[in-house]
Amino acid sequence: MSNFAYTDLVVDIPDYPEPGVIFKDITPLIADPQGFSAVIDGLAEHFMGLGITKVVGAEARGFLVGAPVAYRLAAGFVPARKPGKLPRDVISQAYALEYGTDEIQIHADALSPEDRVLIIDDLVATGGTAVACAQLVEKAGAKVIGFGFALELAYLNPREVISQHFDQEVYSLITVE
Ligand code: PRP
Ligand code: MG
Repeated sequence: MSNFAYTDLVVDIPDYPEPGVIFKDITPLIADPQGFSAVIDGLAEHFMGLGITKVVGAEARGFLVGAPVAYRLAAGFVPARKPGKLPRDVISQAYALEYGTDEIQIHADALSPEDRVLIIDDLVATGGTAVACAQLVEKAGAKVIGFGFALELAYLNPREVISQHFDQEVYSLITVE
């Protein structure tokens, strides 16, 4: 389904969540049965055969895409959550937002050094969330194999940011120039 017309189902919302920002709403895409399978299969098939053992996805929208991609790869899914949500020992990583910083966490025992990990999110914008997820993987002693996104806002140069920290492949189904 590589020729699926994904972009017809991604809706631009001008001035949301603040003036000057165009929000890319992917909920119509994943609500569409064909669109949802095209996204999940498109990402999973790209990373098949690489021995991925775990997918890490960031709360909240990373769960929507990451968990089904993990299932499709016969890998496990590790949620990267906002602080205070995971009940046991955690590993934390701070990352920069447009204004201020945020933090995400995984359980300290969620990954082992044998794990080959794919970072998945619905969207990459500045690349900050993806880099933070990959840094969590490294802190856990596991190996980052690649990054996959349904949508890439290329005009924000996320590849440049990711490549400053990681040389693994970045693959996006939809690129917005
Ligand atoms: C959005 C999106 C990505 C992130 C991308 O998540 O789901 O995770 O922004 O932006 P970046 O590349 O600049 O880091 P958001 O933080 O809005 O939270 P949500 O997933 O809970 O909606
Ligand atoms: Mg998110």
